[in-house]
Amino acid sequence: MTDDRERWALILGASSGMGEASALTLAAAGYRICGIHLDFRAALAHVEQVKAKIAAAGSEALYLNMNAADDDRRATALATLRERFDRSRADGRHPYVRVVMHSLAFGSLIPFLAEDPKAGVDRKKMEMTQDVMANSLVYWVQDLWGGGFLEPGSKIYAMTSEGSSRVVPSYGVVSSAKAALESHIRQLAMELAKLGTGVTANSIRAGVTLTPALMKIPEKDAIIASATKRNPTGRMTTPQDVANTILALSGEGTEFINGEIIGVDGGEFVTGS
Ligand SMILES: NC(=O)c1ccc[n+]([C@@H]2O[C@H](COP(=O)([O-])OP(=O)(O)OC[C@H]3O[C@@H](n4cnc5c(N)ncnc54)[C@H](O)[C@@H]3O)[C@@H](O)[C@H]2O)c1
Repeated sequence: MTDDRERWALILGASSGMGEASALTLAAAGYRICGIHLDFRAALAHVEQVKAKIAAAGSEALYLNMNAADDDRRATALATLRERFDRSRADGRHPYVRVVMHSLAFGSLIPFLAEDPKAGVDRKKMEMTQDVMANSLVYWVQDLWGGGFLEPGSKIYAMTSEGSSRVVPSYGVVSSAKAALESHIRQLAMELAKLGTGVTANSIRAGVTLTPALMKIPEKDAIIASATKRNPTGRMTTPQDVANTILALSGEGTEFINGEIIGVDGGEFVTGS
């Protein structure tokens, strides 16, 4: 069945890693990209390169540099996207957000218990990490659904990791956010289905992938060594592996895949040693 609507991908975390690769891959496949990111100074040059590549692919990059967990900024971003949709409608096209990807990496990488209490987690760090890495998904989906941006065939993806069910000394705060994110996806999947929206929601559990977010984890060297040894393919996951999966799952005929945690890791998770 052909879809003659104008497909958009709204990617939260679109300037780096999995989000960047997915933006470029979806753009090459004909999606227009609304990319939310949080970058400063030197990193902005890279954002311009990403936008240029999207344009070179014949697509459109509506990139907004903002904190995705800020309610006012989210409202402004969606008003901007609505205005852009209105222009398409005025030209006789039918735009909708087919892909929503939550790919935000922004968390406190500290233990719960530390001899110096200031080195351990506190309420502010715990709640900020939960807000950005988990709860923001719910608020974006509420507004996208309430605002009529989602239509039958729309797909929601949230990036999770093996760390949602494994413990690593500095990863406790992010681990709890990943567990919450997976729970939010299950709840959204069920509610969207019961409402008869035709919208699905799934978690994507990527294997260990070389990105700026991974390099910030204090135990990165041990994590990379373990993933490289354990992965039965003999290599680590790449952002492109994730992007290819997002594109494939967003094709036709996948509407009964809902509420799942889908591994994209070459078999790393299921391999013991
Ligand atoms: N790298 C891995 O090994 C790995 C494995 C599994 C899952 N993941 C998950 O995949 C997702 C993407 O990670 P990545 O490795 O591609 O990270 P990355 O650092 O390459 O990219 C993170 C993106 O998030 C954006 N961002 C961060 N905080 C933001 C905020 N408050 N508001 C708006 N944008 C913000 C950044 O601008 C950037 O575009 C994360 O949820 C991460 O936990 C990563």
